[in-house]
Amino acid sequence: MRSPAELYDWELAHVAGRWHQDLASYAAVAARTGGPVLELACGTGRLTAPLGAVGLDVDADMLAGARRRGVRRLVRADMRRFALAQRFALVALPYNSLQLLVDDADAVACLRCAVSHLAPGGMLALEVTDFQAGAVRASVGVELLGRADGVTLHGALEHDFSRRLTTYHRRFEEGGETRVDHVMLRCLDWAELERLLERACLRLVGLSEEGHRLFCVASPHQCADGHQPPSAPAASRRALALATRDRARLA
Ligand SMILES: C[S@@+](CC[C@H](N)C(=O)[O-])C[C@H]1O[C@@H](n2cnc3c(N)ncnc32)[C@H](O)[C@@H]1O
Repeated sequence: MRSPAELYDWELAHVAGRWHQDLASYAAVAARTGGPVLELACGTGRLTAPLGAVGLDVDADMLAGARRRGVRRLVRADMRRFALAQRFALVALPYNSLQLLVDDADAVACLRCAVSHLAPGGMLALEVTDFQAGAVRASVGVELLGRADGVTLHGALEHDFSRRLTTYHRRFEEGGETRVDHVMLRCLDWAELERLLERACLRLVGLSEEGHRLFCVASPHQCADGHQPPSAPAASRRALALATRDRARLA
């Protein structure tokens, strides 16, 4: 059976329909901030490669996939606690990856770590989705999600509305073998995201939405507790240029 990273790419291509749709959004912010770019939770390098970014992920199999895609600078680390010598003009956290950190403390730790790796004037760009928006039933039973190239995927969803958690149950089948996993994600709307950003001394300076997906750009600022992120003064100038709380569609 294919590796989890290969199954991830298969799912992107055949079920999620996600390949380069979000690239233009990150490339546009990178064009304003300049480089270098760090992508947290980079996976198999779908965006890392075209952005020419440094990729960080906790999973060796995913990093091997990114290497096969041509990403040269890869770091194996936990995005809640990493320490790199380099500082970045843009830290990207695409495709709902912040939502894998289901505890507030973990999500805030990740955002703070991102802030501490920003160069003066640097920005954080991320995407989040509210998987429970519009949902009325607590579970969506097993469905066939895709079948291609000898792989079949069935999936089901469970919503814990009170805790704002959604679990995606997956079952891949290929050549008589089966791989089952359960991915738990927190749900975030823009108000919930803004509260997390605030706890990491980040302010939302750009927001665009498509359905229940939000693409956000944030910059460091001085926190109420007096904490001064390293890049705050230049960030505020760029924040003005990026203050686009519009309702534009994601690229
Ligand atoms: C949905 S994939 C996103 C991949 C890529 N950013 C993209 O847009 O295609 C989520 C990734 O997060 C990684 N991940 C999960 N928890 C992590 C953690 N604590 N630190 C670093 N990476 C993590 C997983 O290994 C996986 O590659």
